[in-house]
Amino acid sequence: MSAPTELNGVPPGEPLAVLARWLDDAQRDGAQPNPNAMVLATCDAAGRPSARVVLCKDLAVDPGYIVFFTNYLSRKGRDLAATPRAAAVFHWDTLHRQARIEGPVLKSPSAESDAYFASRPWQSRIGAWASRQSEPTESRAALEQALAAAARRFAAPSPGRTGLDEPFDGPIARPPHWGGYRLWAESIELWVEGDARIHDRLVWSRSLRAHAETLEAGPWTVTRLQP
Ligand SMILES: Cc1cc2nc3c(=O)[nH]c(=O)nc-3n(C[C@H](O)[C@H](O)[C@H](O)COP(=O)(O)O)c2cc1C
Repeated sequence: MSAPTELNGVPPGEPLAVLARWLDDAQRDGAQPNPNAMVLATCDAAGRPSARVVLCKDLAVDPGYIVFFTNYLSRKGRDLAATPRAAAVFHWDTLHRQARIEGPVLKSPSAESDAYFASRPWQSRIGAWASRQSEPTESRAALEQALAAAARRFAAPSPGRTGLDEPFDGPIARPPHWGGYRLWAESIELWVEGDARIHDRLVWSRSLRAHAETLEAGPWTVTRLQP
């Protein structure tokens, strides 16, 4: 099988390396404010799907997973507790590329979530304490009260309009309900737009089996799909 032009020169066993390069290309292209945004689809216990945009914050080419951060008690968090699998899609319109990743999802190790949480602006860290993501709220005012209460708890500036610009370097621990997930690539499809809708589609698949606290990956096999 021949690879599409854009994939020439890349060893067929390294689809995640291509994805990393595509993310770099999208960053350099500058056409999208969030080139690392991806649509993430999950399923609840009854198999009902839901999808939303999250940011891909890390990509481990080897062993092959992507990382996003969120609230573990959110709708997606509850879905992943019931059905620990997900599908993610990147779309870079100006680059005529799409990438799809599907596979099992594991929580990131606590130390990794701690490190990323600590790197976030203090306002976002307060927000992670204040927001019960995906739960109903009485009003915008109730949300602002929750933010103010979380700020008081960590002796941070009031999150009113002026407080958002103030510096604050006091400690704000990571909430237990907030952290990362690793979406392991069990399959990855790289799509390149072609003339007359004769697109290039290559899909790589591999087996993943549980091993200690993580997953062990088999070799990739690659197949070309019809457009
Ligand atoms: C560009 C963009 C990036 C986003 N990044 C994240 C993210 O990294 N993590 C997150 O929890 N929500 C993120 N969101 C918000 C989610 O789309 C979603 O509203 C939220 O996570 C709640 O989803 P859920 O109720 O399905 O769990 C982002 C939204 C947009 C538009």
